[in-house]
Amino acid sequence: MAAEQDSGLPVPGGPRHVAIIMDGNGRWAEQRRLPRVAGHRAGVDAVRRVVRAAPEIGIDTLTLYAFSSENWRRPADEVSDLMSLLRHHLVSELDELNSNGARIHLIGDWRRLRPEIVERLEHAVAVTRANSRLQLAVALNYGARDELVRAARHLAAEARAGRLDPAAIDEALLDGALDTAALPPVDLIIRTSGEQRMSNFLLWQAAYAELLFVPTLWPDFDAARLREAAQAFARRERRYGGR
Ligand code: FPP
Repeated sequence: MAAEQDSGLPVPGGPRHVAIIMDGNGRWAEQRRLPRVAGHRAGVDAVRRVVRAAPEIGIDTLTLYAFSSENWRRPADEVSDLMSLLRHHLVSELDELNSNGARIHLIGDWRRLRPEIVERLEHAVAVTRANSRLQLAVALNYGARDELVRAARHLAAEARAGRLDPAAIDEALLDGALDTAALPPVDLIIRTSGEQRMSNFLLWQAAYAELLFVPTLWPDFDAARLREAAQAFARRERRYGGR
C-alpha cells in the first residue's frame, strides 16, 4: 500500500473531522534520557506535521487535546513549561498557520488561562478567522464533563431568564451549547502511545465516532501515520446504531 500512502491525495471515504489525544511526549523524552519538556517540544513539531498534512489527506477539521483540565495536577515546572511553549508558539507559528490556511478555534475553559496567554489566543483566533482550508480546534484547559456542565449552566440561565422553555431542550440544542458547536461531527478519535482511554475528551461528541488507538508516541507521529489512520477509518463500516 506504499504507493497509496505516498499519493498525497485525499483518502477516499476518509474522515472529515479527526480529533487527537496526543499522548506519549513524556515517554518519548524518557527513552532518550531527556527532560519531559524535550518531549513536549518534539510534540509541537508533530503538531506542525499533522496540521500540514491533514488537508492533503482530506481532513478539513482537526481537534487537538493540548492541555486538559486535569493537566494542572502535573508538577508546577511541567505546567509552566507547557504554558511557555504555548505562549511562544502562539506567536511563532501564526505565519505557518496562515500559509496552511488554518483557522484556529478554541475549546475548553481557555479564558481561565493567564491573561497574557488569553490575549495571544484571542489574537490567533482573530488573525486566522478568514482561513478555510483547515479548521484547527485546540482544546485548552478542556475537560468533557466541564464542557457539559458549562453548557447545562448556560441553558439553565437562558431558561431562568425566560428565553428558553426547558421542554425545548433536545440533543440538537445541547449539542449547540457545547464548545464544539461550530465544528462538524467528530468522525475519528485517535489516541497515540498505546493507552486506551478517553481521558475526559469529547465524551458527548464521541457517541458515534470511530476510535483508533495507535502505539506510536506522539512526537513520532507524522503525515504517514495520519494517512494510515484515515485509511483505517475508511475501511470501517459505520452503522450509527442501525443494522
Ligand atoms: C501528553 O504526553 C501530552 C500533553 C500533556 C501535552 C500535549 C502537548 C503538546 C503536543 C504540545 C503542544 C501543546 C501545548 C500546550 C504547548 P504525556 O506528557 O502525558 O506523555 P507520557 O504519558 O508519556 O508521560
